[in-house]
Amino acid sequence: MIEYVDEDFGFFKEEFKTDKNLSKILLVTGGAGFIGANFISYILDNYPEYRVINFDKLTYAGNLNNLSLIENNPNYVFMKGDIANKKDVKNVYEEFNPDFVVHFAAESHVDRSIINPDIFLETNVIGTQNLLNFAREHKIEKFVLISTDEVYGSVEKGHSSIETDRMEPNNPYSASKAAAEFLIRVAHQTYGQRVNVVRSCNNYGRYQFPEKIIPKIICNAMQDKPIPIYGDGKNSRSWLNVKDHCAAIDVVLHSGKSGEIYNVAAKNEISNIDLAEKILKKMGKPLDLIEFVFDRPGHDKRYSVNANKIHNQLGWSPKINFDDGLDETISWYLIHQDWVKDVISGEYMNCYQKNGAGIK
Ligand code: NAD
Ligand code: DAU
Repeated sequence: MIEYVDEDFGFFKEEFKTDKNLSKILLVTGGAGFIGANFISYILDNYPEYRVINFDKLTYAGNLNNLSLIENNPNYVFMKGDIANKKDVKNVYEEFNPDFVVHFAAESHVDRSIINPDIFLETNVIGTQNLLNFAREHKIEKFVLISTDEVYGSVEKGHSSIETDRMEPNNPYSASKAAAEFLIRVAHQTYGQRVNVVRSCNNYGRYQFPEKIIPKIICNAMQDKPIPIYGDGKNSRSWLNVKDHCAAIDVVLHSGKSGEIYNVAAKNEISNIDLAEKILKKMGKPLDLIEFVFDRPGHDKRYSVNANKIHNQLGWSPKINFDDGLDETISWYLIHQDWVKDVISGEYMNCYQKNGAGIK
């Protein structure tokens, strides 16, 4: 039985079993964020015998309401902690002795990284190294870093990045993710740790913080507020439903060859202006809500990754059609307006106001 003294430290369950012989114990970092919360639900649904620890600092982007559907599951516990703090990281490994680590925790928003790069280095770089150090000590079976297609930098039309392409990050966020990837490489090459990196394109779906473009368009449109589109709106991104991303991480965790990097994407490339118009049409809102605003400094024109490797070697392919996924996401935000009100807090608005990008 686990005994806990500090209520601020987390929501603990006496029934949570740490006996290694029962089944796998999975440490998820950043599980209160958008993709992490979806991933925890996915794992508990698909591996009902696994035990999952959600280790999260609860920054502005971490919201335990994202776990409300599974918080009473006896195989799930939350532990509050900072990956950049060695003591917190030591505690979580010692307490739970996990088999696997799936590492989502990060500062994830490019605009914020332009304003304050330091916290991106602390969390995304130092935090990753702390997790790797204790993973080595605890002989973790597999450590998966959730990285991003942004590490490739902007990609010319006609090309889709493959895993062996050079990393050429152009903003503090993507540079910090590239640095984290190099630390993963070192853990494998120098210390023989079993690792993978997943490089996904832009995700969309439920629980995404409305500073990101798709939920921002939906949430602003719901309130008939202007939709800020950076520059000329011709920058393009490709979009993957978060559920498809979770399935990709599952196959990499269980079947990925140690030391390998896997791109993950669906073929849904669209310019930001076309995306905004598509969503407004679906919502029956006027297109003149769109407002062209000051561009993001260093704004990458285009991301595109080739996901043939994960398809050919591990059998993963995306299942969710973009229009269906968008319809479902719009409905989710319309139904969960309380969730939206909750997250659009003072902290979010402060950042929005200070943000260089988007302010004319
Ligand atoms: P998010 O911002 O929604 O969530 C990040 C989570 O990490 C939050 O719960 C936050 O509280 C937690 N966190 C932040 N700093 C922490 C720290 N120091 N210690 C512990 N927890 C901390 O992010 P997301 O969009 O869910 O992205 C998750 C991961 O996926 C990130 O690593 C990101 O780089 C990567 N990624 C995201 C996308 C996307 O489209 N959202 C695409 C590719 C890769
Ligand atoms: O490509 C994967 C990356 O996708 C992840 O690694 C990041 O964590 C995630 O935040 C996302 O980064 P982007 O910068 O691509 O996402 P964002 O939603 O911020 O912006 C998407 C595009 O929309 C980008 O070209 C900038 C533009 N944009 C964004 C915002 C917030 C606007 O035009 N207006 C806006 O208000």
